[in-house]
Amino acid sequence: MHATISSIGIYHPLKEIKNSYFEEFLETTDQWIKERTGIENRYYALENEYTSDLCVKAVEALVKNHTTNLQEVDFIIVATSTPDQTLPSVASRVQTRMNIPHAGCIDISAACGGFVYGIILAKGLIAAGTHRKIIVTGAETLSKVTDFTDRSSCILFGDGAGAVIVEASSENHLLKVITDTDGSYGKDLYLSNKNIPINGKPVIPDNNIHQNGRVVFKWAVSTLTKKIEELVSKNGITLEDIDYFIPHSANMRILETVCKELGIPMEKCLESIKNYGNTSAASIPLAWYNGITSGRIKPNDKLLLIGFGGGLTCAGICLQNNIEMK
Ligand code: COA
Repeated sequence: MHATISSIGIYHPLKEIKNSYFEEFLETTDQWIKERTGIENRYYALENEYTSDLCVKAVEALVKNHTTNLQEVDFIIVATSTPDQTLPSVASRVQTRMNIPHAGCIDISAACGGFVYGIILAKGLIAAGTHRKIIVTGAETLSKVTDFTDRSSCILFGDGAGAVIVEASSENHLLKVITDTDGSYGKDLYLSNKNIPINGKPVIPDNNIHQNGRVVFKWAVSTLTKKIEELVSKNGITLEDIDYFIPHSANMRILETVCKELGIPMEKCLESIKNYGNTSAASIPLAWYNGITSGRIKPNDKLLLIGFGGGLTCAGICLQNNIEMK
């Protein structure tokens, strides 16, 4: 059985955070942040607003945007590094709040690659014939795990959520995929919630994200460049055959460097970094949604989605866009 994606919904919390917010308590400027990251704005969840709340709102938006029967959903995958709690899963919170009877539910942890990993898993379940209609969401409340004393990381992160439905189809819209990881970089990007060393490096459990920005930047550029080429060649197509590239929006300069190296015009690269910051697992659905609602992505366009981040890990898929707004 093949699979397709024909519906999408997104949500961002309402508290808007401009770059000038950080100027009040850090040695930084709006200009530095814009020039070095491309970020102008991001949104933060309220104190009592959690990842599951954002997921529910994204699924509600999906239902508003498209005609779909949630009662038929038989599996829910939530990709997140910021679950409300480890137990119960965010997915099971979504299941009960959206009144979806008997769906299998899992959270997956693949950081900024999580949304694409979720689509790959859903495609596999459908190919295996065990499930037919699967909600995949990428959602984060990174503002709750941000170290606001670290000017090189706190300016990057934002909160948001995106949801799609992957469903069985006679047409093959979800094409070939790639996955890859180099766990030796674990110490260069991690959430320190336990006092357990990573690759021998001691960790102070302050429940914040820590990163070696330059190392991650270099790894992201070289990995994306290699993996995008590998993915198109695995699909028997060329870069020119792709209508839009949607890489994880980590830093505008990462996207610009990769596009330059591969000769991809920037107009073909969709981002969510400018308005939302780095929203990790939510960044790709946010950019996809904006590409559709702005009229750039059309039905049947060929898209290349590629997520990368903490692990360090990476996952990509080529697909034919089957989403049309009402
Ligand atoms: N405002 C002003 N100056 C800042 C700053 C800020 N917010 N953050 C860092 N700087 C300073 C540094 O202290 C450094 O100063 P120095 O030269 O006096 O030591 C200088 O800017 C350059 O630092 P550097 O770390 O080389 O900056 P950069 O251009 O690499 O940008 C990141 C830093 C974090 C924005 C960038 O490395 C990045 O985006 N990396 C990838 C991170 C990422 O994507 N993580 C998630 C993966 S999914």
